Amino acid sequence: MTVTGTTLVIGATGTTGSRTAARLIAAGRRVRAAGRSAAAFPGAEPVRFDWYEPDTHGPALAGADRVYLVPPIGDPDPAAVMLPFLDRARAAGVLRAVLLSSSAIPEGGPAVGRVHRALPDLFAQWAVLRPSWFMQNFTGTHAHADSVRADGVIRTAAGAGRVGFVDADDIAAVAVRALTDDRAPNTDLILTGPRALAHDDIAAVLTDVTGRPVVHHHLTHDALVERLAGAVPREFAVMLAGMDRAIAEGSEDRTTDTVQRLTGRPPNDFRTVAERELSAREP
Ligand SMILES: NC(=O)c1ccc[n+]([C@@H]2O[C@H](COP(=O)([O-])OP(=O)(O)OC[C@H]3O[C@@H](n4cnc5c(N)ncnc54)[C@H](OP(=O)(O)O)[C@@H]3O)[C@@H](O)[C@H]2O)c1
Repeated sequence: MTVTGTTLVIGATGTTGSRTAARLIAAGRRVRAAGRSAAAFPGAEPVRFDWYEPDTHGPALAGADRVYLVPPIGDPDPAAVMLPFLDRARAAGVLRAVLLSSSAIPEGGPAVGRVHRALPDLFAQWAVLRPSWFMQNFTGTHAHADSVRADGVIRTAAGAGRVGFVDADDIAAVAVRALTDDRAPNTDLILTGPRALAHDDIAAVLTDVTGRPVVHHHLTHDALVERLAGAVPREFAVMLAGMDRAIAEGSEDRTTDTVQRLTGRPPNDFRTVAERELSAREP
């Protein structure tokens, strides 16, 4: 079918939403860029949108026929606000929904896993993107990137466990295909980079690319909980440290062909991303 409506991009100021919106605009699509402050987005119509303020949902949805969904960040039960919104979206004429989830969260799993399970019953055209960990965690605004910049250290309880780190640009490229291809994927898609890397490998590439030593400190699970609990609620700290433990046990040690299959080109490797994003920051 021909796409004639507007694509509502929720989380348009964030890591994947900003890249998805920019690619849609470059492809000539009409984009409504949603965020809590309706920040200006070149080429898009900005709209104020807050998951927790239903009054902002109607104006965001008016005239939209597809939507990119970044869940409310850090909410242990995003379904509570997302499912009523998705009912409303369908009633308002949205035909296709593309949800950002995570490789670590299966359909029906905790948090956004409940939204994943509900999506096929709500929309005839849908996709759930399940990326592995983002390469941008080391180059952008994530706690790892902050500690790399501050003292050249990555601290995890992931040990030597490997992760199929993926470029957020590749996630966005897949999101655009899922939003605009004539046939929607109507499935979930696990997204990875070209190879699985340990955090020691990441530190070595960052050392090379920045010219400053970066090391990976291997923490125990309990030491990481104590460290994180200074910054976030203990329950959340335990959950985050548990994700590292799962990595240590091999849960993310895989690669998939999804980026190649949907975009027609291979996914970017970590060195390429580090060179692109870190050299752009240097004066
Ligand atoms: N980092 C990883 O390695 C990784 C791996 C797999 C999956 N994920 C998943 O990726 C998601 C994060 O996506 P991202 O990195 O693209 O986003 P992000 O960079 O964390 O940005 C969050 C976005 O959500 C918006 N937002 C926050 N609270 C909101 C609210 N109450 N109402 C409306 N919008 C709100 C923010 O916009 P404003 O501040 O402008 O409102 C921003 O655009 C999480 O669900 C995470 O589980 C992350």
